[in-house]
Formats: sequence, structure tokens, C-alpha cells
Amino acid sequence: MHEMIRTWDGAFVVTHHDAPTGAMVYIAVHRSTPEAACGGTRQRSYSSPERALQDAMGLAETMTLKFALLDLPRGGGKAVIDLPADLPAEARAGLMERYGLLLESLGGVFQTGADLGTSVADLDRVAGKTRHVFGTSQGRGDPGPSTALGVYTGIRACLQHRFGSDSLDHRRVLVQGLGGVGAPLTRRLLEAGATVLGTDVDTGQRAHFEENPGFQWVAPEDALTADCDVFAPCAMGGVLNRESISRLSCAIVAGSANNQLAQPEDAELLQDRGILHAPDILISGGGALYLLGGDTLGWTGEEIEARILGLGQRLLEVFRQAEERGCTTQSAAVELARSLRQQLDRGGGS
Ligand code: PHE
Repeated sequence: MHEMIRTWDGAFVVTHHDAPTGAMVYIAVHRSTPEAACGGTRQRSYSSPERALQDAMGLAETMTLKFALLDLPRGGGKAVIDLPADLPAEARAGLMERYGLLLESLGGVFQTGADLGTSVADLDRVAGKTRHVFGTSQGRGDPGPSTALGVYTGIRACLQHRFGSDSLDHRRVLVQGLGGVGAPLTRRLLEAGATVLGTDVDTGQRAHFEENPGFQWVAPEDALTADCDVFAPCAMGGVLNRESISRLSCAIVAGSANNQLAQPEDAELLQDRGILHAPDILISGGGALYLLGGDTLGWTGEEIEARILGLGQRLLEVFRQAEERGCTTQSAAVELARSLRQQLDRGGGS
């Protein structure tokens, strides 16, 4: 683990053992100057401490790129709490309070909000101990619907680029993960006339949509091979790998999951198969615009919405640059993020 931290291209990592529960906390700060670092807090059980640390570091780096693409002057960070598999639900409250104290002791160098496994109620407990948290029930709350609006806008931009029309009428979209982002996304897509193939490892989510004639349930093990126009991964990262890419039966991949590509080379495999990929560092930006814009930059609801809808234009810009340079959409997005970050460092940007 020492070697992983030493060779990481980020600023620093804080590791913390929560003795009462046995949970381990990893706060990876990729960049903390000149502005504070921000990023969500993810809670789940990992198969090894190395995987948890790796996830925190990889996701923190992603946040630096994401903020740059969103013209948000913030450094990237991420907290991962590796929960013991059998942690009783009642133990969670104390863990959140102690986590709040930990953030407070860092003096605001890392500020956090929701991510996979962390609810608004969890954040409210954190907020009892520190100011360095946003998206609580006193603030903007759940960012999921805003992330979903960004993905919806992004999907339409992809359809426009690929088929020359952004209409969702009769398009088939597979939504993987019907949780905080996938559920509101599914609602929007159904309203726009799309057929949604929905899947979730938690089969209970099926009941929420079953009544809708445009919804079809797909068993999780059949999700990757289902025939569709758009595959929208809205659950775990790493879903795009050599094996899964060879089985995909879609024209477009556009979803909110962070770090969808298991390996950087997988972007080329998608390109070789003629599949248009909306880089997740851009299309998943709605939640960050909502939380940071609303809770720390004082934007109004209309301003936030306008910025989220602007993600579609930026995505089209990335597709154009990728075509011009003959590179993958992922490389074009990373390159654009780096140049926007440099502009921010020079005091430009918006
Ligand atoms: N975790 C979400 C994301 O990665 C929302 C979030 C954004 C949380 C920014 C904190 C800071 O986009």
C-alpha cells in the first residue's frame, strides 16, 4: 500500500481506522491547491484494502478532470469507507459522526458530499460535526436527479452525433442500476418516449417501473448483451473491459458510473467496435454542478439547470475533437480537461 501511495500522482492520502466499527477510511486528495479539494464519500465493502485505496485514488483523479470540464474551480478528492461486511445498520450513525470529526480535523482541505452508498441522512450526521460537507437536508440534498438530468442531456447529444437526431422516440436505452441516478433517468427517458430496458442487482427495483408500458426488465446477467441503441451504466465502475466490450450490442455507451473503463486501452476497443462512448468524467457532471454550484457557489436553480443542460454542448465539442484528432472520446475529454485546468490556473475560465 505504501508503494501505491508513494507512486501516485496526487497530493496526499489520509488513512484512518474507525476502531468501534472496524471500518477503514481512505481520503485521497488528488489536488488541493489553490482551491480546496472536493469529492464524494463512497461506502461499501471491498475485497481487499488495496482495492479500496485504489478506488479512492482513481476516483479522486477523476474528480480533478471532472471539475475542470465543468469549469468548476476545485481540486479533485474522494473518500472511500471500506465497511466490514457484517456492519449492523445501527453502527452507521456513530461511524458518520466520527467521520465528521475526522473531516473537521483536516480543516476543510477536503470537502465532501454524496456518492455510492452514502445517503443524505448519513451526510446530516457528518454535518453535526463539521461544516465541510454539502448536499445535506439543510442544503441542496440528493444530487441524483441532477446527475440524471446531465446523463439524459448527454444521451441526447450522443444520439444527435450518431444518428443526426436527438429524438428518444422509439429508441431503446438499457439503464444498468435503478438507484439514485438510474431511477430518475429512467423516468425522464420513458417520458420522452424511449423504451427502457432496466436492470439492477437489487431485483426489488423492478417493481417501481413495471407498470409502465415502455419499461422492460432485464436480468442483470443478460444486461450486457441486450440489444439496444444506448447502454447507460449507472452503477459500478469498471463495467467496460475487454470481455464486456466484445459482447455489447449497442451503438452508444452513455451513463453516470464513474470510471467505467477498466483499463485506459478499453476506450480503443470501444472505438474499434464503432461504439460511441460519452466519457464519464463529463456526462456524470450534473451532480457536481448541483452540489458545488448550489451549496458553495450560490447559483440559483435556473443557473444550475442551464449549466447541466450545457453538458450536451461540451460533449459534442469532445466528439468533434476526437474525430479531428482521430483519437478516442476519452482521450479528447482528458485533453480538454487538462487544458481547461491550465486556463483555471492562469486565472481564466468562467
Ligand atoms: N459523487 C458525485 C460525483 O462524483 C457527486 C459529488 C460531486 C459529490 C462533487 C461531491 C463533490 O460527481
